[in-house]
Amino acid sequence: MSRTCKLGVLAALALAAVPASASCPFLGGQKGSQPDLGTGVDRALRSYDDSYYSGSGADFSRETYEALQADITAVFTDSQDFWPADFGNYAPLMIRLAWHCNGNYRQSDGRGGCDGGRIRFNPERSWADNTNLDKALTLLQPIKLKYGDAVSWGDLITLTGNEAIRSMGGPVLGFCAGRLDDASGFDSLELGPSPEQEAVAPCAVNGTCEFPLGTSTVGLIYVNPEGPLGVPDPAGSAADIRDVFGRMGMNDSETVALIGGGHAFGKFHGACATGPGPDPTDAPEAPWPGTCGDPDSPTFGRAENTFTSGFEGQWTVEPLVWDNAYFKDLLEYDWVMTESPADQVQWFPVLKEGATETEDEIPDIIMLTSDIALLYDEEYLALVELFASDLSYLDTAFAAAWYKLTSRDMGQFQRCVGTDVAPPQDFQLPLPEAPADLPDTDGAKSAIMSILSSDPSYPALFVTLAWQCASTYRSTDFLGGCNGARIRFSPERDWAGNQGLDQ
Ligand code: HEM
Repeated sequence: MSRTCKLGVLAALALAAVPASASCPFLGGQKGSQPDLGTGVDRALRSYDDSYYSGSGADFSRETYEALQADITAVFTDSQDFWPADFGNYAPLMIRLAWHCNGNYRQSDGRGGCDGGRIRFNPERSWADNTNLDKALTLLQPIKLKYGDAVSWGDLITLTGNEAIRSMGGPVLGFCAGRLDDASGFDSLELGPSPEQEAVAPCAVNGTCEFPLGTSTVGLIYVNPEGPLGVPDPAGSAADIRDVFGRMGMNDSETVALIGGGHAFGKFHGACATGPGPDPTDAPEAPWPGTCGDPDSPTFGRAENTFTSGFEGQWTVEPLVWDNAYFKDLLEYDWVMTESPADQVQWFPVLKEGATETEDEIPDIIMLTSDIALLYDEEYLALVELFASDLSYLDTAFAAAWYKLTSRDMGQFQRCVGTDVAPPQDFQLPLPEAPADLPDTDGAKSAIMSILSSDPSYPALFVTLAWQCASTYRSTDFLGGCNGARIRFSPERDWAGNQGLDQ
């Protein structure tokens, strides 16, 4: 494989320019160059089954899996003084951890995702969107120490997200295990604005950073919850969401199910105007100590004094219960702008004209501009209505979208190991089973030889064909390659570098 094609994994959601050439069409054909970012673990070495792990200590047995599930679930309700659990339960925090670890996957070049577990290291650890997720990692640390190499951080974080959803009654499709931990955060980038980001991933106009970058906005993993560049414009936010979730490979239904399904749980945190304090880069020993509350109080900067995003409130009245109240309430009320204690725009519900409810029946809930956005786009609105009226439809859509979100960087179905792997999904490009009786390769070989000898230009042509077919492989998310022989079909057949090969 050429050096250009062998990318390694870069988790910075949005930032690296894509090294590409005509010989690497699976990268999207973008021209550009970037510094050598290293490859970390050589993922290309990993085989299609768990034989790679034999001797590595990884353990994907049913017994270990069930013990892990039980240990993880016990953490949720074991509130610790260093970070008291909201509502007595860490499950929502853990879903946010798994979402932020996985959701930085970008389809353009397959980089990002939780494989590698780089959220433990800078720069990801210090990404502003990951504020206070260091606490979630600290809560999981005893489990990692207990299981050692039997479970990678990437698998632990993702499985914890699954168990968190399950523990609150949410639907889970399965678990694709087999993530390998990187030894550092070297393959992730600072989100910027910074000189490194400017050099590697320049963005001409902030707010409209372009594909193949994973986000529209410098400094963010996803979209600005306050609206594009902080402007509380729900319609603009809807466009931003479609753009950014599209770069993750999510369609409208997956996007709306994920946002509303995720926000069925938990709350946002913004108890005061002074922020969370220094991040792990500036305060590695005690990052984000908090600045809200009475400095003499044991809950200074934590519990009800937590500052994470700067918004304050919760999306639903039962933040530890899986339901479709998020969608129902979005439709049930009109939404009015207000400000959090940190002066950030958020929205509260008021009665619609002609409503039969009384004022004091209005739930004490809040939405962000990026939630209200789902009402300001025709396709999103139709999905909000569907999910509000049919919980089982939401169950199915959310479970599939969450599995895709958390397995997309793992590549093809055969790469998933463990005892709870879901059936092959479309995004895993499933191939038919190999036939029990393989064709007569000697016969095929001699047929090919006679074609090759029929024209002196054919040998070179067929070498080109094989190269074009195989060199699409990328080690970031294991997609591409000649397995599947997609070079026979559009769009691969039509790529510029493949002109004439269909002959
Ligand atoms: C448009 C996309 C999204 C935006 C802008 C967004 C924004 C936010 C913000 C600002 C918070 C509050 C953080 C805090 O102050 O503690 C939050 C929390 C949360 N988000 Fe999202 N989010 C998005 C999508 C998702 C998705 C797709 C999921 C999962 C499927 C998710 C799951 C959660 C959960 C569970 C919490 C609560 C965490 C807790 O209680 O500690 N979010 N989100």
